[in-house]
Amino acid sequence: MIRINENYRKLQASYLFSDIAKRVNSFQQAHPDRRIIKLGIGDVTRALPSACISAFHRAVDEMADDATFRGYGPEQGYPFLREKIARYDYQERGADISAEEVFISDGAKCDSGNIQEIFADSVVVAIPDPVYPVYLDTNVMAGRTGPYKDGRYEGIVYLEGTRQNGFIPDLPDRPVDLIYLCYPNNPTGAAITKPQLKAWVDYARKHRALLLYDAAYEAFVRDESLPKTIYEIDGAREVAIEFRSFSKTAGFTGTRCAFTVVPKSCQAYMADGQSVLVHSLWLRRHTTKFNGVSYPVQRAVEAAYDEEGRRQCRELTDYYLENAALIREKMTAMGYDCIGGENSPYIWVQGHIDSWKFFDLLLEKAGVVCTPGAGFGRCGEGYIRISAFNSHENVQQAMNRITEALSSK
Ligand code: MLT
Repeated sequence: MIRINENYRKLQASYLFSDIAKRVNSFQQAHPDRRIIKLGIGDVTRALPSACISAFHRAVDEMADDATFRGYGPEQGYPFLREKIARYDYQERGADISAEEVFISDGAKCDSGNIQEIFADSVVVAIPDPVYPVYLDTNVMAGRTGPYKDGRYEGIVYLEGTRQNGFIPDLPDRPVDLIYLCYPNNPTGAAITKPQLKAWVDYARKHRALLLYDAAYEAFVRDESLPKTIYEIDGAREVAIEFRSFSKTAGFTGTRCAFTVVPKSCQAYMADGQSVLVHSLWLRRHTTKFNGVSYPVQRAVEAAYDEEGRRQCRELTDYYLENAALIREKMTAMGYDCIGGENSPYIWVQGHIDSWKFFDLLLEKAGVVCTPGAGFGRCGEGYIRISAFNSHENVQQAMNRITEALSSK
């Protein structure tokens, strides 16, 4: 008899963004004439930078000629891209990361979801609340939790983000082994300072724990005093893995490219205390289960590191940050308490009503889709997340509609 992985039965109905898409589709079917503006899932709307597109075309042409055609590439990514990443994202910021420590992949979602499988079933996992749902769901699937009760899974150490702590959770009050962090944060848009991040690195070093640092939104950091990578913090090379993505930085949500940094000095332990290099485990996993990102996509991403590519990517993120500033300004003017939107494309708004009710209100009265905070964890209840990923025109119109809807509430 074929049996299922019963851990899947512990999961909540469906993945947050699929759930929202279903609700929006049924609303659209019931109101076919309504033009809905989507500020829900963080999906980019602007074209790929022209520097990337030109490189993409050239690489596709190479595939059309036997002399330059390429079959399987290295699973970890082509050296030309890994070297650019190591140089521009790390070494030029004073972070000691080499090309061999960079693994190219098709998404930070996939990597941050898959990484847990190289660690023991018994590790104690600490996950912020609220947070991007992938970290929690993948640990539930792997059987690291008990059942779901009162909005929480047994066995997980929740790191609570609240208005009081500025959505930067305190260190855990009991020993944990695997710690997920995400900054600038999804969903709250909160950005962590270097001293705050150092406290986590010091904690991990002291407890022989490992930090999984999701920096998918680092390109939106404008405050120069804030860290763009965890490896700006002394000692992080021994205790941190970092996830990055080109989705929001360069517009690759549909084209797919991301990377994960696993330093060769990062260690994890066997039951008898013997240490093992995490890099060698991830290399084994990646080369066994992943076939690499396509050559043209890697060439397109490489071009994002040229002078012109970097200028165009900066222009892209600036564009979305202008939307974020407008959303924040309008919501604040209506008396809503907001965080994020300054070094992040997400604005976290305290609604003072149930977050799904706020979601429904904006959908029904304004035809605008946001993301209910409760979908990111129990501490997200009462909040909504508004995404800045859309055109200036749509964001302007969405804010006009929201202003009207909320003033006639
Ligand atoms: C989000 O809206 O939180 C993100 O777009 C989801 C993702 O990057 O997978």
